[in-house]
Amino acid sequence: MRALAILSAALLSLAAPLAAQAQPTAQSRFTAAEIERGRYVATAGDCAACHNAPASAPGREGAEMAGGYPIVSPLGSIYSTNITPSRTHGIGAYSEAEFARALRQGIRRDGAPLYPAMPYTSYAGLSDTDVHALYAYFMKGVRPVDRTAPATSLPFPFNIRTSMRAWNALFLKDERVKVDPGHDAKWNRGRYLAETLGHCSTCHSPRGFLMEEKTGSALAGGPLGAWYAPNITSDKISGIGGWSQAEIAQYLATGHVAGKAQAAGDMAEAVTHSFSKLTRSDIDAMAAYIATVPAVRDEGDKQPAYSYGKSGTFEAAIRGGTQPAMAGARLYSGLCAACHGRDGDGSPDGAIPSLHHNSTVGASRTNNLIAVILHGVDRTVGDRHVLMPGFGENSFVQPLSNLQIAELGTFLRQTFGPGDAISEKQVEIARSQSSLSILLLMARTGMVLLALILIGIVAWRLRRGGLRHAKATLA
Ligand code: HEC
Ligand code: HEC
Ligand code: HEC
Repeated sequence: MRALAILSAALLSLAAPLAAQAQPTAQSRFTAAEIERGRYVATAGDCAACHNAPASAPGREGAEMAGGYPIVSPLGSIYSTNITPSRTHGIGAYSEAEFARALRQGIRRDGAPLYPAMPYTSYAGLSDTDVHALYAYFMKGVRPVDRTAPATSLPFPFNIRTSMRAWNALFLKDERVKVDPGHDAKWNRGRYLAETLGHCSTCHSPRGFLMEEKTGSALAGGPLGAWYAPNITSDKISGIGGWSQAEIAQYLATGHVAGKAQAAGDMAEAVTHSFSKLTRSDIDAMAAYIATVPAVRDEGDKQPAYSYGKSGTFEAAIRGGTQPAMAGARLYSGLCAACHGRDGDGSPDGAIPSLHHNSTVGASRTNNLIAVILHGVDRTVGDRHVLMPGFGENSFVQPLSNLQIAELGTFLRQTFGPGDAISEKQVEIARSQSSLSILLLMARTGMVLLALILIGIVAWRLRRGGLRHAKATLA
């Protein structure tokens, strides 16, 4: 009995330091600096955009990173998951290696592939230091919330997550962003941020047949539901080659560059929640890199989008304008001129932009002009809230019909833009598109891929089955 007591005491004294070694995880494993750094990395990566519980969630308490944000797809919703450190309902049980695998390879702790609504193809380039900082932040800087986000249950065959592996094998480059010795540290930092956390290419790059980003024409522009993420390559006509680096930086930090462009839609969200909160040096670094992205020209473009139009053309447009443009001019006078000025010069302090020298009015694609009339502008930078009301069906000012928006748009294009017309049909299409466009796009990406891959697998099985059958018949 006594021997046993001594033995267990001895074992305990042996085990104590071991236990202390196995348990120190809690407070001591991450420094306060690492956790803070992780918070910054999470802002740059805009995790909250998808992982915070939606505004409609009951009570909104514990909304931060608790998941449940629905990414609507035609087949059903894909819900973001709870990534708080709750061990039972969140990612509290994830080891750092498992966390890194989820971020860079899109593989969950249980080994199942995630849907690409989670932008792991961009996060794949993240450095070990940043992944570590993110892990520190998610384990120690985020409050655990013991609540399960609604489960994603897509109908068969889209519930077979395994098929994502085939797409990953084709298109996921699981490698870190390398330092290019041909450029300085600032440029390299900018490239790293733009390619990984900033994930500019998820919106701004055109996509191929299997919805993969076309790397050959990176950042040459891509549709986002009702919006269009424009060409931001260094091309002087189709892209932003005519912008100074300071202007690019100002756009990212504030979403507003007089005489060039303003950020609405998905870009306003990225500016509000992520880019406007980054350090000046990180913003300048991104601008330095973006200014060097290889030029891609769209042969249809004649002059830069921001260069069209001039002040004082209103009367001339009314006299010489087409029938729809004249109807549009009346709408403009009644609904827009109070803010944007009779001649489209904007407000004297520059807070309300001019409509000449405005990339949204001059762009060869009319998507953003229609979208901004439908949805308005909503952006917050620091304590400044930039708001233009929308004129879509839920407008608190005045809902406009497709015909009215076409007339108004045609007037704007003919007075301050390239001179073409906007049709009712174009407005109808834009209106039917969700404003959660990037998420929708990503969800669709997943859906299209799954469908194609499944068809591929079935075809391959049939062929193999066919071959086996043929061999059996021969034998
Ligand atoms: C564009 C939306 C979006 C962004 C931005 C995003 N996520 Fe996700 N994430 C998702 C969705 C949707 C899922 C669930 C996908 C599924 O169920 O297949 C997910 C799943 C995850 C998972 C797997 C958790 C589990 O369920 O086991 C982790 C970990 C994760 N995200 C971390 C992050 C981090 C860290 C960031 C920021 C650096 C981030 N995500 C940014 C949409 C996003
Ligand atoms: C979630 C999608 C999304 C992401 C991510 C995104 N953008 Fe955008 N971007 C847009 C959309 C949409 C517009 C058009 C906004 C408008 O006209 O109101 C835009 C507009 C711009 C413009 C203005 C171009 C012009 O000619 O008017 C620049 C510059 C730009 N983005 C740079 C970037 C950079 C750099 C990044 C990454 C650091 C980035 N964007 C990330 C969607 C996105
Ligand atoms: C209450 C004032 C107000 C009214 C009314 C208004 N706007 Fe605006 N408009 C703004 C503000 C503010 C911005 C954004 C400024 C910024 O982003 O910094 C803006 C931006 C724009 C842009 C650029 C958006 C982009 O994405 O680049 C266009 C185009 C535009 N307005 C057209 C219109 C038209 C057409 C009407 C009438 C149907 C109208 N506005 C009515 C205040 C207004």
